[in-house]
Amino acid sequence: MAAAGSAVGLGNIWGFPTQAASNGGAVFLMVYLLMVFALAYPLLVAELTIGRYGNADPITSLRKVWPQQKALMGLVGLAGMIAVSLILSFYAIVAGWLLGYLLAPICEAAGLVSLAHWLETFGSGRNLVLMLIFMWLTVMVVRSGVADGIEKWSTRLMPVLLLLFVVMVIYILTQDGAWAGLRLYLVPDFSHLSPKLIVSAMGQAFFSLSLGVCTMMVYGSYLSKSANLPKTAAQVALLDTGVAFIAGMLILPAMFVAQHNGVVIYDESGALLASDTLVFSVLPTMFDTMGPVGMIVGILFFVLMIIAALTSSISMLEVPVSCAIEELNLKRHTAVWWIGGFICVISAVIVFNFDALFGRVVTMTTAYAQPIIGMIFALLVGWIWHRDKVLQEIRKGYPAVESSLFWRIWPWYVRIVCPVLMLLVFFVQ
Ligand code: PHE
Repeated sequence: MAAAGSAVGLGNIWGFPTQAASNGGAVFLMVYLLMVFALAYPLLVAELTIGRYGNADPITSLRKVWPQQKALMGLVGLAGMIAVSLILSFYAIVAGWLLGYLLAPICEAAGLVSLAHWLETFGSGRNLVLMLIFMWLTVMVVRSGVADGIEKWSTRLMPVLLLLFVVMVIYILTQDGAWAGLRLYLVPDFSHLSPKLIVSAMGQAFFSLSLGVCTMMVYGSYLSKSANLPKTAAQVALLDTGVAFIAGMLILPAMFVAQHNGVVIYDESGALLASDTLVFSVLPTMFDTMGPVGMIVGILFFVLMIIAALTSSISMLEVPVSCAIEELNLKRHTAVWWIGGFICVISAVIVFNFDALFGRVVTMTTAYAQPIIGMIFALLVGWIWHRDKVLQEIRKGYPAVESSLFWRIWPWYVRIVCPVLMLLVFFVQ
């Protein structure tokens, strides 16, 4: 469930619908689904398996897989750590916007109209303050090790989130303009298919499943030996993809309802306008149209989304923190504050150079770093690690694995198909 908490987050509600709306809707959805099940799922099993085998921080786990190449494995672990820190630095900015949209209606109801306006309006000061609050929340959870409690809460709240989504989907579909959005989302128009779309879908799949940055390795190391790894990975992938799919059913129609009401969404060339923040401007508008219940639905929605974002951000911060604790012998407390503080500094640099940096950092980390490091993990499991050792590790929680269909396909799949597919994606663009 912790891994599911890491996977479900802003990637589902913000990343996926934005990408789908920018890349032709249904075609993006199809390629995305293909990427999740043909590429990301096998790699999720690989990453969890390395982590559980290593039973340590990512650098040590990777070194246990290839003990002859300690320096190289250290570098790979470091690359994952840098990538995940950069991801957290933009993630905290986006999660801060959620805080803003949660607090704004409350402030408005309390008569603090100008504060409410400030919270909802894009600006460096507001982005910085909200980012710092979100980072502080993340640091507090990781520092006090109450991750356990948070995960328990998130498992209880996940069904509430799903239910809320379903209610909101039903509501939005009764609004004028919604069906055009639904059509875009579900009826494919293959003229949109392009190499760029495929790279974006691959990046989105890696981002949404938290792959290629050692997060799932750390969580694998916390798993018990009796956990069935292929099954756990399948549950995480299905849940995560289910949430993304439903989020798309909500956001795309909501965008078209807004368009119907006069908001300009696409420019003349068909590119999405203000794509980074569109999801967050469309949703509050929707809550406003709901009458008095709108405020309650809105607050509930943003609270649940902030918790979902928090269960992802703690899994990111846990990667460098676990390395610092085990490799450098630092205390958890010290490691969390130093690393959290450092990430706040990077995040602040992005806030003050938003137009130049934000999109670049997102693309660099999610579309490139995550798939490339993920491919290195696939090569390690496929070519370096002894097949029998991999089998032994998976067998601990899945005694019948050897005679399963999974075992007949997966080893050569991560060995050959995954790396070749990924190289193809990068070469065709
Ligand atoms: N999967 C998370 C989400 O969808 C983001 C994430 C990426 C978490 C990488 C951890 C590591 O929001």
